[in-house]
Amino acid sequence: MARIVVTGGAGFIGYHVTRALLARGDEATVIDDFSDGPYPRAEKVRNEGDLLSAFSGARVVRACVTDRAAMAPLIDGAEAVVHLAGLAGVRPSFGDPVRYARVNVEGTAVVQELARQRGVERFLFASSSSIYGNATPLPAREDAPAVVPESPYAASKRSAELVASAICRNAPEMRCAALRFFTVYGARQRPEMAITRFMRAALAGRPVTIFGDGSMRRDFTYVDDIVRGVLAALDASAPPGFRAYNLGSGAPIDLRGLVEAIGAAAGVALQVERAPVPLGDVDATFADITRARTELAWTPRVSLHEGLLAVREWVTDHP
Ligand SMILES: NC(=O)c1ccc[n+]([C@@H]2O[C@H](COP(=O)([O-])OP(=O)(O)OC[C@H]3O[C@@H](n4cnc5c(N)ncnc54)[C@H](O)[C@@H]3O)[C@@H](O)[C@H]2O)c1
Repeated sequence: MARIVVTGGAGFIGYHVTRALLARGDEATVIDDFSDGPYPRAEKVRNEGDLLSAFSGARVVRACVTDRAAMAPLIDGAEAVVHLAGLAGVRPSFGDPVRYARVNVEGTAVVQELARQRGVERFLFASSSSIYGNATPLPAREDAPAVVPESPYAASKRSAELVASAICRNAPEMRCAALRFFTVYGARQRPEMAITRFMRAALAGRPVTIFGDGSMRRDFTYVDDIVRGVLAALDASAPPGFRAYNLGSGAPIDLRGLVEAIGAAAGVALQVERAPVPLGDVDATFADITRARTELAWTPRVSLHEGLLAVREWVTDHP
């Protein structure tokens, strides 16, 4: 049993990671500020309630990751920190780039530096496929340059990585992994994300809106696969230092294909409306997952169809 701090544990991915840690017997403390963005706080309160009622040992603390004084005692005694707190979302990041930079860059530096000062050996944090922008050759490899972010969100995630890798130079014992998640979906997905919105529309008989001509591709990755990747990175006997890992399905699909797949899972033919491609959205994401396969013995297992059936069930049960 290890004592693990999970920041952002009331959010979508954080909920699933915390649940998996508690289920395998680890002691997990969630730190989350329950902020009202980019989606309503009520969803996070629901996740918190579900964790607390399922696991008597679950602990949830309300704190902001940029608040060093509040965070310091919470990191004391931790054996590992899984830092998933952050402001997600490409499009909303244009509306408040300063807040994105503060939470995602400064917040990550605050948490990692507190962990370093306390000799915490394992620090994992959420990065993103968006850091690759449109300039990186696909499938994107972790060692490819990622220097042309298309949004403040992407820039904040890449900046957080650069700061983290520099902090590691002063932390010879720390094993630090930047986990580059590729469009994660599943039960409890952030409600503004495409798959959950499309599934709700499909089941309600409403049209869905797709951007551009529908040729935009995304490497959709089921949340259970992401959880296994996070645990694999946590448990890996990696050498100290900074290392980035792509966690993606490695099987991108375009938006037209996604709409068809959602229609198949929902058992309806979706009506499609079109809108211009929003600022900041990249043309395609496509993970090269060789590194995670070889170093973490991780491989995604859940097909898009299986994952969409699980989303349908969740959406049906949570109208
Ligand atoms: N979902 C995806 O497809 C995806 C893809 C790539 C990267 N990521 C990253 O993974 C992480 C989790 O994403 P998610 O989809 O679960 O998003 P989410 O918004 O559901 O979870 C993030 C959590 O962090 C919390 N948080 C935000 N600001 C905070 C602060 N200042 N202090 C403490 N807590 C704070 C939020 O309240 C929320 O519960 C984020 O860092 C996100 O950027 C997600």
